[in-house]
Amino acid sequence: MLKGARERRVRTGGIELCVAELGDAGQPTVVLVHGYPDSKEVWSEVAGRLAEHFHVVLYDVRGHGRSTAPKPLRGGFTLEKLTDDFLAVIDAVSPGRPVHLVGHDWGSVQSWEFVTVARTEGRIASFTSMSGPCLDHFGHWIDQRLRKPTPRRVGQLLGQGAKSWYVYALHTPVLPELAWRGPLGKRWPRILERVEKVPGGDYPTSSLPQDAAHGAWLYRDNVRARLRHPRPDAHAHAPVQLITPLDDAFLSERLYDDLDRWVPRLTRRTLPAKHWIPRTRPDQLTAWITEFVRSVEDGRPEPVKPTGKYADRFGGQLVLVTGAGSGIGRATAFAFAEAGARVIAVDRDAESAARTAELSRLIGAPEAWPETVDVSDEQAMEKLADKVATQYGVLDVLVNNAGIGLGGSFFDTTPEDWKKVLDVNLWGVIHGCRLFGRQMAERGQGGHIVNTASAAAYQPSKALPAYSTSKAAVLMLSECLRAELAGRGIGVSAICPGFVNTNITSTARFAGVDAEEEKRRQKRTARLYGLRNYPPEKVADAIRRAVVRNQAVVPVTPEARGAHLMSRFTPRALRAIARLEPPL
Ligand SMILES: NC(=O)c1ccc[n+]([C@@H]2O[C@H](COP(=O)([O-])OP(=O)(O)OC[C@H]3O[C@@H](n4cnc5c(N)ncnc54)[C@H](O)[C@@H]3O)[C@@H](O)[C@H]2O)c1
Repeated sequence: MLKGARERRVRTGGIELCVAELGDAGQPTVVLVHGYPDSKEVWSEVAGRLAEHFHVVLYDVRGHGRSTAPKPLRGGFTLEKLTDDFLAVIDAVSPGRPVHLVGHDWGSVQSWEFVTVARTEGRIASFTSMSGPCLDHFGHWIDQRLRKPTPRRVGQLLGQGAKSWYVYALHTPVLPELAWRGPLGKRWPRILERVEKVPGGDYPTSSLPQDAAHGAWLYRDNVRARLRHPRPDAHAHAPVQLITPLDDAFLSERLYDDLDRWVPRLTRRTLPAKHWIPRTRPDQLTAWITEFVRSVEDGRPEPVKPTGKYADRFGGQLVLVTGAGSGIGRATAFAFAEAGARVIAVDRDAESAARTAELSRLIGAPEAWPETVDVSDEQAMEKLADKVATQYGVLDVLVNNAGIGLGGSFFDTTPEDWKKVLDVNLWGVIHGCRLFGRQMAERGQGGHIVNTASAAAYQPSKALPAYSTSKAAVLMLSECLRAELAGRGIGVSAICPGFVNTNITSTARFAGVDAEEEKRRQKRTARLYGLRNYPPEKVADAIRRAVVRNQAVVPVTPEARGAHLMSRFTPRALRAIARLEPPL
């Protein structure tokens, strides 16, 4: 039973469906349809969150949870009958107003039927699909690849074929039923926890073996027939939001390549997660469903459509960048803003942080806030972390980028110099990872941490001992943290740029020289970096890509890549180069 839900029973075609409602019935109705082998409780995390804004309706699909099963089972689970059930439910809960449909797994497969048949036209305002393709689209997808097989298409067919092993298994008689009543049923919570990373493996129904045995008929009654003879006119009559988890063990993302052909108003979203996203990513799903439903309800001619590179991945996500007032940090804030993320621009310089936030909004961030904080100040960072958690939420992406330059030989570098550079470049990153990383880990819904290190992290230099040491520490910290957080779906990347044309050269300190000489050296390095002219925007692009691909160590600029290779294969040559004074 879902907490706080009002339950009713809806009769249709000789069976009784168990329907639950949450939230204010005067608000737009969102209908959540569960998959296999789940019951409506799979949605409990998402439903509770959505109910703050919407009238949320869930039902146990026939033969599942507390809905009754058709008799006989064979032929009782056809898509036509499932459409009858859906219509009976919405007649009962939202007779005069079209509903927003959301489906996961088989709930999505059947919802595709609902949204592409004529008899539901005008009854569905929008559809959010996750991890469940339209069988007709799938049929055409296979057909096309068989008819015009290129090596790539054959690869796609084989890829999806390998992921579909369980579909073949479910078509065998009796075996699936026996497996679910026996070992599979018993081990299912553990499989969900260990393999699918569902927290606590909490399988929310007590009727699993029976549900799973009934649900096998979903496959047997529909899959083979539809894949062989897909309907030619399976076009969606409502806007569709497609959410694709990129690590889905059962479905290839390539399945949706041709979807624009069937869906005139399509919004794509991707997220790095496994199959059971209603349980593992409820915050993200709630945010995307809410935004999509609102855009349709507001009568916008096009529902929310992320534009810009990586917008499918970062749209609506919460991203915090430190050192966002200038150079790489500012470019990174803009890059995430362009992808539709909500941006928190942190800098010790209030004015430049405010400017970055303001420009981020103009570029495409739905929301952007400036925060003035010195990242080396532990208490200030703690305050910031509390404020972010209460006012904006848990971060999806953290970019620890703030840093300062310091040149000068080891003996010229005073303990104060060391302290300053380590306080900002290393401790700033430690505070960020510790405070925001913990919030991410405790939320248990994934995330990503990017630390800006430098090529100096692996390239020794006699002119930059303190700076290089701080960056080497950031690199190792990132590697250690990556290992620790991997099991929680949180990625960690270290970005290692070479010479990038930013303000760092004119603010970098030089130890062991007087103010006049320091100015002269700043000017000289600024000129050299200017001549090199590698733009911070390219580093920002590498940062976004590192998050998307979950890369561990990312050298940026050709010289950084070269030095990285040398550090691995010819370290002696790199040591020899270190004796020549580098420009900073
Ligand atoms: N520019 C390069 O060639 C280069 C190369 C490798 C690595 N990096 C690293 O990239 C990062 C960004 O550098 P950049 O080149 O964009 O420099 P930048 O000077 O243009 O920008 C750094 C920003 O960080 C802010 N900042 C400095 N100390 C801070 C603190 N204690 N708290 C909060 N904000 C602070 C500054 O106000 C500034 O806005 C740094 O970590 C730097 O070490 C730069």
